[in-house]
Amino acid sequence: MSDTRYPSNRRGHIIGWGKALPERVLTNDELATLVDTSDEWIRQRTGIAERHIAGEGETTFSLSLKAAQDALHITNLDPIHLDLIIVATVTPDYPFPATACLLQDALGAQHAAAFDLQAGCSGFVYGLSVAAGLLAAGLYRYALVVGAETLSRITDWTDRTTCVLFGDGAGAVVLESREEPGGILSSVLGADGSGGELLMIPGGGSAHPTCAEMVQDRQHFIQMKGQEVFRFATRTMPEAARQALEKAELGVDDVALFVPHQANDRILQTAAKRLGVPEDKMFSNLARYGNTSAASIPIALCEAIEQERIKRDDVIVLTGFGAGLTWAAAVVRWSLPLPSPTPRRRTIVWRSLRFRWARLRSRLRRLWRRVDARLFNLRYEQDGRRKRRDEE
Ligand code: UT7
Repeated sequence: MSDTRYPSNRRGHIIGWGKALPERVLTNDELATLVDTSDEWIRQRTGIAERHIAGEGETTFSLSLKAAQDALHITNLDPIHLDLIIVATVTPDYPFPATACLLQDALGAQHAAAFDLQAGCSGFVYGLSVAAGLLAAGLYRYALVVGAETLSRITDWTDRTTCVLFGDGAGAVVLESREEPGGILSSVLGADGSGGELLMIPGGGSAHPTCAEMVQDRQHFIQMKGQEVFRFATRTMPEAARQALEKAELGVDDVALFVPHQANDRILQTAAKRLGVPEDKMFSNLARYGNTSAASIPIALCEAIEQERIKRDDVIVLTGFGAGLTWAAAVVRWSLPLPSPTPRRRTIVWRSLRFRWARLRSRLRRLWRRVDARLFNLRYEQDGRRKRRDEE
């Protein structure tokens, strides 16, 4: 396990946040027409009432883009100043290139390093922690961390034990390295690969490459041993939160709000009991979104801000668990005044022009790459002809 306390005065501060959810909502009653389940069973066992499902053309990248644009809008930061983009996801648009690179191009973040991070539902806190470390070390000034998923694309819609749980969405934060009190104070990241098979997609990787037989056996969908994951979650989430608080030299009583991974209301209730905090200190929006894996914590964070559950100087704890198995917690002292001021119309227009310019720039670069390839081929052929003539 890796524990990190950021000792210097320089820390990553959250200065922007955004979320994106597909329009299409799938209710429990609709699900009951697909598999043998009921609204009552799903609500009682999980707390989920509905979830958002990506429509045609909507992908992890498109949801990431919307969430990232919203987060950048709040900061008024030109994406050209971003130094780093991390997208935490288990459902990238492609095995490669990274979804973070698609995002880097679409935002026009020309100077940003970009990579995807895969740590299951703990992915966002892993990403936040990696970015915060680089910012605290003074290597970068601005970072964008996104948690985004289209789990509906890897869900087996004939398996009632999993398909009732998951949803699609994205959340993003912009971090700035600042020499002032607050920001991301500490984090704890952990993994136990011996539990890998409790929550996995067996097929489609190098162990079992995609083939007709594998698809026929439905090995390209999520498989989960729910009860074992449940037990793991109720143990590790509160433990990780406590350890991260200890690193920050804070106690549970100092925390204004826990923003946990949204997997099951019963997990959140047990975690609250184990931490000895009232249930209303555990933020929950499970009812409307279900489990959106790496996206669940940043979406919940955005909603907590929208609902004015967070104010300046509050200590908040983000804590998650997931496939791997992995767990993660981060302690944040909120350093920005809330609610954030409404931007002027001129600013809104300017920001949307920036994103249009990024799109145009991307097209021009693709076009130039084609022209450049054509010119290179011409030169290569000419050289070849000249060489043959010289030899004759
Ligand atoms: O992000 C991390 C990912 N995963 C999680 O966090 C999941 C953690 N686990 C859980 O949330 C819970 O274990 C579940 C919600 C997945 C399952 O709840 P449970 O209380 O552990 O149910 P169970 O697996 O013990 O199943 C109880 C019964 C079984 O029937 P029998 O054998 O008692 O007759 C299941 O077949 O409920 C049945 N069942 C269902 N019935 C109606 C399982 N799924 C469903 C369903 N609708 N969707």
